[in-house]
Amino acid sequence: MTTETSTVMTAAGPGSQQNVPALADRPVLVQVRDLKKYFPIRRGVLRRTVGHIKAVDGVSFDIYKGETLGLVGESGCGKSTAGRTILQLEEPTEGTVQFADRELTSMSGNDIRKARRHMQMIFQDPYASLNPRMTVGNIISEPLTIHGIGDNASRKERVQELLRVVGLNPYFVNRYPHEFSGGQRQRIGVARALATNPSFIVADEPISALDVSIQAQVVNMLDDLKQELGLTYLFIAHDLSMVRYISDRVAVMYLGRIVELSSRNEVYDHPLHPYTQALLSAIPVPDPDKEARRQRIILEGDVPSPANPPSGCRFHPRCAYATEVCREADPEFRNLGTAASPHMVACHHAEKFI
Ligand SMILES: Nc1ncnc2c1ncn2[C@@H]1O[C@H](COP(=O)(O)OP(=O)(O)OP(=O)(O)O)[C@@H](O)[C@H]1O
Ligand code: SF4
Ligand SMILES: [Mg+2]
Repeated sequence: MTTETSTVMTAAGPGSQQNVPALADRPVLVQVRDLKKYFPIRRGVLRRTVGHIKAVDGVSFDIYKGETLGLVGESGCGKSTAGRTILQLEEPTEGTVQFADRELTSMSGNDIRKARRHMQMIFQDPYASLNPRMTVGNIISEPLTIHGIGDNASRKERVQELLRVVGLNPYFVNRYPHEFSGGQRQRIGVARALATNPSFIVADEPISALDVSIQAQVVNMLDDLKQELGLTYLFIAHDLSMVRYISDRVAVMYLGRIVELSSRNEVYDHPLHPYTQALLSAIPVPDPDKEARRQRIILEGDVPSPANPPSGCRFHPRCAYATEVCREADPEFRNLGTAASPHMVACHHAEKFI
């Protein structure tokens, strides 16, 4: 494999998130550019729009073919909205999403529905995401019916094959979701997501609702499926420990923006953004000596409202390193790594952490 690279693509400016390094040896499956999703805040009898919740506020990144990109951040920072907007389950307010060279944001509703068989979502809550009145067989085959794939006999066969693929007994087809444990239900959700043979999956906190004892099993299964089926994942989680083992790269999100994005090892071993450092400091370390020396960075204050994000760097009210420039200027998302191994960060003072 070559390490030849081309340079940063777009013109950047203060606050710009549009710098996306292009790596010649990494084919891109999903290209997200300046993506925004604002939800209107309506008040009064006339339901007049009085403001907007800026759930996703101008994010740009690539997801390479065959990789798992972990997306982490505190509750409410916009992870699910980002995932849903990428899949066009929410209409973007602004920005573009290209999937395998096709521009999703300019497609008609009908074309998006057709494209969706190639992009699926796995949800956080396996209890809520499966229809309790449908049999497992019908739950898994529903996407095939919707997309008009195969006939009854071939769908039945496919359901049994999918149950085997996710490690469940193929004779379970006539059972109902309540007859399964949380981990088994999440396997059913995965089988359903895989039914149409997608190439891209957004996994939205797929293990957070599960017992700690079975979280690893489900993560391992997803990782094995990725290898076997050549899948690409956007794997959403609220803390960095959950995505550590499955991600090739990690993006850290704060108040609608990506503040740091690099290879997994770079993010865990050399975090350059104070927010990432705070998230990492909250994770217990298995080595007892290191654990005894671990210094927890306590984040001051609450997460500000995405309806009215702070001026300058959105993290400044909670950042121990904030200076005047942080309060005034929105930091550019810039590469402090190399061209071949980018380390993107949005912080005015990130150099001090190199
Ligand atoms: N349909 C909606 N209408 C209005 N506001 C919404 C809607 N969906 C999300 N939001 C708001 O957008 C912001 C981002 O929400 P989102 O669910 O994307 O965050 P998240 O990072 O996935 O959080 P969590 O970790 O709790 O799942 C939140 O302030 C949320 O209240
Ligand atoms: S730009 Fe300033 S406030 Fe924002 S993370 Fe960096 S040091 Fe902290
Ligand atoms: Mg969410």
